[in-house]
Amino acid sequence: MGLFNNIKFFVLCHGMLQLAQLLVSGYLKGSISTIEKRYGLSSQMSGLLSSFNEVGNTVLIVFVSYFGSRVHRPRCIGIGAIIASMAAFLIALPHFFSGEYEYTDDQNSTKVNVSGLCQPVSTVQAQLFNKTCSKEDSHAHHAVYPVLLLGQLLLGIGGVPIQPFGISYVDDYAYKKNSPFYLGILFSITVIGPALGYLMASFMLRLYVDFNLDSSDSINLTKDDPRWVGAWWMGFLLAGTLLFLTSLPYLFFPRKMQTEETTEAPVKPTSEKFIKKNDMSSNQMHELSLSQFLKRFPHIMLRTLRNPIYLLVVLAQVNLAAMIAGIATFMPKFIERHFMKPATFSNLMIGGLIIPSAMLGIMAGGMVLRRLSLSIRASAVMCIVAVLMGSMFALPLLFLGCSTQRIAGIYPNKSQQCSLDCSCSSEAFNPVCSSDDIEFRSPCHAGCRQGSYDEKMKVWNYTDCSCVGSNSLPGFTLSRICDNGCSHLIIPFLILSSLSCLLVSFSHTPSFMMILRTVAPEDKSFALGIQFMLFRVLAFLPAPVLYGSAIDSTCILWGQKCNKNTSCHYYNLDLFRQRFLGLQNFFIVGGLAFFVLSFLVLKRMDSIRQLQTEQGSNVATGKKDQETSLQKAASVPL
Ligand SMILES: *[C@@H]1O[C@H](CO)[C@@H](O)[C@H](O)[C@H]1NC(C)=O
Ligand SMILES: *[C@@H]1O[C@H](CO)[C@@H](O)[C@H](O)[C@H]1NC(C)=O
Ligand SMILES: *[C@@H]1O[C@H](CO)[C@@H](O)[C@H](O)[C@H]1NC(C)=O
Ligand SMILES: *[C@@H]1O[C@H](CO)[C@@H](O)[C@H](O)[C@H]1NC(C)=O
Ligand SMILES: *[C@@H]1O[C@H](CO)[C@@H](O)[C@H](O)[C@H]1NC(C)=O
Ligand SMILES: *[C@@H]1O[C@H](CO)[C@@H](O)[C@H](O)[C@H]1NC(C)=O
Ligand SMILES: *[C@@H]1O[C@H](CO)[C@@H](O)[C@H](O)[C@H]1NC(C)=O
Repeated sequence: MGLFNNIKFFVLCHGMLQLAQLLVSGYLKGSISTIEKRYGLSSQMSGLLSSFNEVGNTVLIVFVSYFGSRVHRPRCIGIGAIIASMAAFLIALPHFFSGEYEYTDDQNSTKVNVSGLCQPVSTVQAQLFNKTCSKEDSHAHHAVYPVLLLGQLLLGIGGVPIQPFGISYVDDYAYKKNSPFYLGILFSITVIGPALGYLMASFMLRLYVDFNLDSSDSINLTKDDPRWVGAWWMGFLLAGTLLFLTSLPYLFFPRKMQTEETTEAPVKPTSEKFIKKNDMSSNQMHELSLSQFLKRFPHIMLRTLRNPIYLLVVLAQVNLAAMIAGIATFMPKFIERHFMKPATFSNLMIGGLIIPSAMLGIMAGGMVLRRLSLSIRASAVMCIVAVLMGSMFALPLLFLGCSTQRIAGIYPNKSQQCSLDCSCSSEAFNPVCSSDDIEFRSPCHAGCRQGSYDEKMKVWNYTDCSCVGSNSLPGFTLSRICDNGCSHLIIPFLILSSLSCLLVSFSHTPSFMMILRTVAPEDKSFALGIQFMLFRVLAFLPAPVLYGSAIDSTCILWGQKCNKNTSCHYYNLDLFRQRFLGLQNFFIVGGLAFFVLSFLVLKRMDSIRQLQTEQGSNVATGKKDQETSLQKAASVPL
């Protein structure tokens, strides 16, 4: 079993495992707008779904910091990973019990007469529409959202031991000089993983959702059609399988491994080893019983939070984390709706451009920090400058966009419809664009009585439309959405937003440095734990729901199915942009304000200290010590 006694092999396995785990969570965020469309969720619901894995995580992380190295860490990681892979399969499950995806005017649907054309009011058709809401269908649909939530919950629970145990295991059994290198590898994987998740979503959503059931000839939707739904479930099956496979080696790693040997390995001084352990998970904690630990927990928490610099910097980071949560969950949807791009494109841009630029920012921040060994105050200035410049690129985004295209009866005027005698279904959503550039919800709503398929242009051409053109100049409508003239703005938008991401994430490492330097060494690991808990409770959990509600509030036409609201068909794009990007700017400015405050407090503390002219600072701790802790801190996914 030499292989399983080798820390290098452990690092390899752990890298793969983290990659698989982050692939699942990144993929979920990339496919959330598709899931929303497929199962008729509001953005608030999809925001909750996207943040629900934090619930289990937040509750259980306390115990992880308590159990520390008392348990068989590799086995815990393996079991957690198996749970997480089952969770990924669970998330894909609704696809297999919810039946085929049905969209309006699916010409091949067996359930309704779906010419989609204007027909004289007939009770027959109305009855047929009523029939589609059969009981089994809606029962299956009711189960979908709870199953997805449960999957997310389990995903969060399974992920709890993976990172903390993996890092502490590597740190304990790696040769000390190699440890930062190994942790650096693991850290870069935590940044690459989500990006690959979005790229995988971009790839998978090219396939049609029911490609396993339908012969592809019978699918006449194109990827640009707003009714298109990609194969969102495929990625969960793939990433879940990968997660399962990578979890298997963990069942064979020993509880304790021999410390790595290198050719020039000197015998470690025991004192150094002790300090390191102490740093990891403060030693006193290990001697406490669980109940004592839980009792002391609030006490230490208060003590940590009473440190003003710690509190201010953590609040600044919480603001920036809320911004990142908004980008991660809803930026793909924003690009889809605002610039009328398919989900494959938006995910490609997030995974291929925005996350890499954030990565670059984090790395640049760390490099600058390593070059110039900055004081805490200088780090604060660095954060302020970075976030200020980031906000200067983010603010113009508010004005970079377009209005919603003209939609008959919906936008900008909620005027009378001219298709009242057409018996159009209130559920119909099959957008067509008329020859005079007005969009209609369906050919029926445009009053069209005839349609033919144009082979050359691959669109349906509906003619004889009572709502389009005039008697002398009869118009027609084509089965596609009208252009809102925004596609030329996509490139400036992407450049500005990735620049702003780059600059804001530049503050990542300096702000961690500030925290590590202001907290007493014995509270360090605890302070980091509290910090990530605050991130979850204040940013990652509520922010997506907040963003989702803000987005929902700009909806101008809700989809309907069986007299229930489904997902939104049309947004007021001006409001969507103002509220979504406005929230992001709000959080950036909030982060800036807290950094400025922390700078002011530092300045005051320094001047007080100068007045007292007592001994020098007792804040600074050993540099090496900081560096490894920093790496540990940095290796938590954004
Ligand atoms: C699907 O597209 C083909 C051409 O690719 C066309 O001949 C056919 O009529 C279309 N069928 C439906 C149901 O839209
Ligand atoms: C179904 O649609 C056809 C035209 O495609 C129409 O002639 C027929 O009357 C419709 N049937 C019902 C029941 O509405
Ligand atoms: C369709 O169902 C609604 C209520 O669900 C009912 O009020 C209406 O009369 C039904 N229409 C027909 C034609 O049965
Ligand atoms: C409808 O689906 C069946 C298979 O379910 C297929 O054989 C047929 O060609 C499809 N018709 C159209 C018009 O796509
Ligand atoms: C909206 O409707 C009013 C009258 O109802 C009309 O004067 C105005 O021009 C319309 N605006 C647009 C943009 O169509
Ligand atoms: C659609 O049909 C109308 C009337 O037949 C015709 O004038 C128009 O060119 C057609 N448009 C396309 C894109 O085929
Ligand atoms: C449902 O749709 C109606 C309009 O069709 C809208 O007024 C209402 O706010 C929607 N409800 C929810 C919960 O979104």
